[in-house]
Amino acid sequence: MDNLSGKVALVTGAGGMRGVGRATALELAREGADIVISDVKRAAADLPPQELKAGWRSLESVQAEVQALGRRCHVVWCDLSAAAQVPQLIEQAISHFGAIDILVNNARAIIGRDKVPVTELDEAVWRRFLDINLTAVFLATKFAGRAMIRRGQGGAIVNIGSENSKRAYPCTAAYTASKFAMIGLTQAAALDLAPHRITVNAVCPGMLDTDRMSYWEQDQARQQGVTQEEFRARVVADAAKAIPLGRIGESEDVARAVAFLAGGKSGFITGQAINVNGGTLFH
Ligand SMILES: NC(=O)c1ccc[n+]([C@@H]2O[C@H](COP(=O)([O-])OP(=O)(O)OC[C@H]3O[C@@H](n4cnc5c(N)ncnc54)[C@H](O)[C@@H]3O)[C@@H](O)[C@H]2O)c1
Repeated sequence: MDNLSGKVALVTGAGGMRGVGRATALELAREGADIVISDVKRAAADLPPQELKAGWRSLESVQAEVQALGRRCHVVWCDLSAAAQVPQLIEQAISHFGAIDILVNNARAIIGRDKVPVTELDEAVWRRFLDINLTAVFLATKFAGRAMIRRGQGGAIVNIGSENSKRAYPCTAAYTASKFAMIGLTQAAALDLAPHRITVNAVCPGMLDTDRMSYWEQDQARQQGVTQEEFRARVVADAAKAIPLGRIGESEDVARAVAFLAGGKSGFITGQAINVNGGTLFH
């Protein structure tokens, strides 16, 4: 399929071996887009054990996969917790390919330190979640949106929300607040950018089997005397039991929804927050 032929897509948080960012970059490339992938350089202690074992090389591995699909791929390292780096990311993407047609705000703060009751939540953790999950999304929308308006050929922005964009779970105050606010930002930006034929939507996954790093899971595994992978497998198996469609979501499930919202066939859809959750939540 060549739905996105001639388009340029920027995907943040794209370095994970089984993450939504990588799956999205590959799906958009399969649809014909050239890709800019971005992530932060992480210390080994902040990487999931599966990536360390596999010798995964983050964005460099993903770049090779995109290129193997016959598309061009540019890598930009960027720490989204540093607000000043966000306009530089957009600028570098545009100076490399000449334009951004599609922006996918996928990155999020590494989870785990936030998994405490609100009365125990550290203010620095709260701020970090808001910085990466919300302020960086606002800034990327602002600067990519400006460039799309200047170019005058429309565009698509897709924000990766969560089931936590629509309902809270215990011990998720920072994550849930950031993901709810992302939906408000999606709706407001959709209205501001609609006159320029730029759509802004969110995709809200339920729990996914992504091997993402979680400090909480690392601590729990240590306490229970099992490996992080063993603990994770239990979490995934338990979660799957509660999902009406009978399985946990995969990054590719989300990537296909993003590709739909990024393509011309969804041009009359904007300001929406679409669930990809196997039937766990309907609004
Ligand atoms: N995994 C799930 O179960 C799940 C469920 C619902 C929603 N989501 C959402 O899907 C998206 C992707 O999830 P995932 O599990 O693939 O992600 P993840 O937890 O692996 O994180 C995504 C990426 O963000 C990057 N990142 C972290 N800090 C950063 C920083 N300071 N600057 C730049 N990049 C940074 C990470 O390096 C990683 O590659 C997220 O927005 C997440 O909230 C995931």
